[in-house]
Amino acid sequence: MTIALGERILFVVAMEAEAQPIRASLGLTGAEATQLHPDFPAMITIGDGPRPRAVATNGTDSRFGVDAIASQPAVVTTLTAIEVFEPTLVISAGAAGGFDKRGGAIGEVVLSDRVVFHDRRVQIPGFDRYGRGDYPVADLSAIAIDLGLTIGTASTGNALDAPQVDLDGMDETQTLAKDMEAAAVAWVCEHKRVPFVALKAITDLVDVPEPTGEQFARNLAVATKNLATTAAQLTAALG
Ligand code: ADE
Repeated sequence: MTIALGERILFVVAMEAEAQPIRASLGLTGAEATQLHPDFPAMITIGDGPRPRAVATNGTDSRFGVDAIASQPAVVTTLTAIEVFEPTLVISAGAAGGFDKRGGAIGEVVLSDRVVFHDRRVQIPGFDRYGRGDYPVADLSAIAIDLGLTIGTASTGNALDAPQVDLDGMDETQTLAKDMEAAAVAWVCEHKRVPFVALKAITDLVDVPEPTGEQFARNLAVATKNLATTAAQLTAALG
């Protein structure tokens, strides 16, 4: 028996500000959040019905008091959420940086057809490919075209800024969405044999002079609104 991708969809999200609009668009606001592991702040909210949807977040770092962003928390959240929810599809959803030179625009939503790391540079044969990752990505291109989404590479690193060496790597992979979690989520999904895609809304353009943090703060609301709308549309299209 083949299990449809849309049967049990899990969204893995880093920041509460990204997750809240997604929970609202999926009708999960009434559901209670539970902690995924006693030693980590990762949380999950699970809906009910025959085709339940869940939103897992990295939670708040207990020492620093901010959202636990970036790749390490993403791994813990993804693994624990997969074991609890047993999804048929994992979607790494959140904000990302875009590229003016590749036609990127604030608020645009990108669906991944390739997911790599750009800062795990290891100049040793074999380890170079391991560092880049290039994890399996589910082919949702037909749905993406129907929904008018941009399709392209999502590239992950553990920094908000982008030194030239990272930019060169992202030119090589023609990255459209630079984030801090997608490839880490994808790595877990590959090991757990769960189909994966990244859905990223552009809050800032990496290759314009204005500081990324300022663009991010100004555009987060519009980007997360578009992300939530698209998350609901994608979920509906998957049946
Ligand atoms: N999230 C939003 N904008 C980003 C950027 N420029 N780099 C990494 N993660 C991001």
